[in-house]
Amino acid sequence: MTDDYRQKLAGEAELWGAESERLARDVPPDWRYHRSLRHNAVIHAANIDGLLACIRPGMDALELGCASGWLTLAMAQRGARAVGLDISDKSLAVARAYYEQVRAGVPGTVEYRAADLNALDLPAETYDVIAVKATLHHLVNLERAIEQIHHALKPGGLLWISDTRGQEAFSTVLAAGALTFLLPTQTPYREKLRALLRFGLRTPSRVQASMEAEGLSPFEGAGREMDWLTLVEARFTIERRVNLPAFTGYVTAQLKAPDALALPLLKTLRGFDRLLVRAGLLRNTSLVIYARKP
Ligand SMILES: C[S@@+](CC[C@H](N)C(=O)[O-])C[C@H]1O[C@@H](n2cnc3c(N)ncnc32)[C@H](O)[C@@H]1O
Repeated sequence: MTDDYRQKLAGEAELWGAESERLARDVPPDWRYHRSLRHNAVIHAANIDGLLACIRPGMDALELGCASGWLTLAMAQRGARAVGLDISDKSLAVARAYYEQVRAGVPGTVEYRAADLNALDLPAETYDVIAVKATLHHLVNLERAIEQIHHALKPGGLLWISDTRGQEAFSTVLAAGALTFLLPTQTPYREKLRALLRFGLRTPSRVQASMEAEGLSPFEGAGREMDWLTLVEARFTIERRVNLPAFTGYVTAQLKAPDALALPLLKTLRGFDRLLVRAGLLRNTSLVIYARKP
């Protein structure tokens, strides 16, 4: 492990720790509250509920990249013995503090541990379920992570992944760019127009960088170029693959409007988006897979 890697990983932990602390000030790190956050209501809720429906009391569950712990906790709320791993001590502190507040009402158990997912060393055939949400695209050693996940799952165990792969396609970037130009966002219209005039033909690459959250954290997008799906397909049986919408996630993050207006609009956009993806007119990068260890 080089000094440069260590330094970048510390930056990664710091950034996501601050994000966990910020979010927990507004919303408790608990799926019962997180489910109404806009990105969950529009994009993720169905698949998170889909994962949770697979959890039975007494199962051993592991989450990789658990941040403030809301998904690990949700698995314990379904009765699992749940473990959450993350690199951010600050996030883990948020997760542990909240678990202490609610543990009396949680039928399962929760344990949060610090770990670097690029250097995983998991026990063999221990978990019934392993969940990884929005984390693989931050990893530089995906091959080892997938190999370790396989090693740690019991035969027949479920691997659930929700993440992005590959680069945003030009058509998706154009759709997302046009919508965020026309709809109200944090950026005032005057500034949007100025940016369009200034960047001209370079505008799509700016939108693409924004969609891919380029530079957000030291390892943001590090795993985008490595094809985690191919690595998973080589070792697991894919039971179900859900294509998430192509541009609606980005528009959801940008839109500035009250929920009463935003939610119906975003859900309508999501419908169009799905149709375009299904028709092959747009390519989505985000997907959810439910895979079994044979
Ligand atoms: C985009 S956040 C996703 C958090 C959470 N899974 C969710 O969906 O709300 C990525 C998480 O991965 C963690 N992470 C990034 N690189 C990591 C690494 N090498 N080892 C462990 N955790 C890492 C970050 O600290 C952060 O909590």
